[in-house]
Amino acid sequence: MRSVKAGVAVAAAVAFIATSSATGWAQGEWKAPADAKNMKNPEKGTDAGKKSVGTNCAACHGPQGKGDGPAAAALTPKPANWTSDKVKKESDGELFWKITNGRGPMPPWKHLPEKERWQIVNYIRTLQGAKK
Ligand code: HEC
Repeated sequence: MRSVKAGVAVAAAVAFIATSSATGWAQGEWKAPADAKNMKNPEKGTDAGKKSVGTNCAACHGPQGKGDGPAAAALTPKPANWTSDKVKKESDGELFWKITNGRGPMPPWKHLPEKERWQIVNYIRTLQGAKK
């Protein structure tokens, strides 16, 4: 029996289809929904984020987040450069949402604890400050 009350689940499913469709992800700018953009980051620390980036992200995004990891050459589109103006301008909530949901070759990281995902965002901010 189909449930119609789970609006959130439906929205999540639609987002999943939109981001994972073979024809959908390759084109156009990748935008997070407005309510995701406005999410507040409850975390201050970076330790869990730094560790996670080294294990989970550096192969594609590079150790400094410049999008130049060893796996990057094989990917289309290329992994984002976290130190670019474009990524700098995005809100914490927007980055959190993109990390959570993924798109195309960018895997979803829903399975990581929320705390870790927010700390990844904080760590990305430190990379943005350290290297231009
Ligand atoms: C298998 C390679 C791969 C891995 C591993 C990976 N990414 Fe990505 N990432 C990508 C690609 C490719 C894109 C660009 C996707 C697009 O534009 O459609 C991307 C895009 C992003 C973006 C979006 C930037 C923007 O605003 O447009 C963020 C943020 C990001 N990745 C963070 C992460 C984090 C954090 C991790 C580790 C937890 C990670 N990625 C692991 C390949 C990867």
